[in-house]
Amino acid sequence: MNKRIEDILNTQIKAEATSSQLYLAMASWAECAGINGTAEFLYKHSDEERMHMLKLVRFINERGGKAEIPSIELPQTEFESLTQIFSLLLEHEIKVTNMINEVVFVCLEEKDYSTHNFMQWFVAEQLEEEALARNILDKLKMIGNDKAGLYLFDRDLETLQNINTSSGIE
Ligand code: FEO
Repeated sequence: MNKRIEDILNTQIKAEATSSQLYLAMASWAECAGINGTAEFLYKHSDEERMHMLKLVRFINERGGKAEIPSIELPQTEFESLTQIFSLLLEHEIKVTNMINEVVFVCLEEKDYSTHNFMQWFVAEQLEEEALARNILDKLKMIGNDKAGLYLFDRDLETLQNINTSSGIE
């Protein structure tokens, strides 16, 4: 496997693992705060990120490279509100999207079209994840401090089964 591609994919492994750990910390915070629907959503999201990481690990190894299993920095574990959580989540996803775009750029520079093809799944995934986070933030803005609204928001989030196949929480 081309060394430059191997290195940038290994960097992406760490980014996905970091996402998983951050969302796990958010889920745990929400669970302790009794915001159970949001906690379920974030636990699921954390699992999704681990799946993204595994996809990269398997791809590198199957292509004759060597996946590096990274150590992860301690994530933020205290949060002020749901709005803060989803703002951080969106900010984080935008960062990940930029990293994915960089991987795609390097694939083209290195004329590695099979990795380029593999990365298209991640490109589509980022579009969905960013749209979902924006949608959730819009809803939270609308709800403001309305307790009944927040209760319904949390309940709706719990019933959101698969974040990959939905771009909204209705
Ligand atoms: Fe795997 Fe949310 O980026």
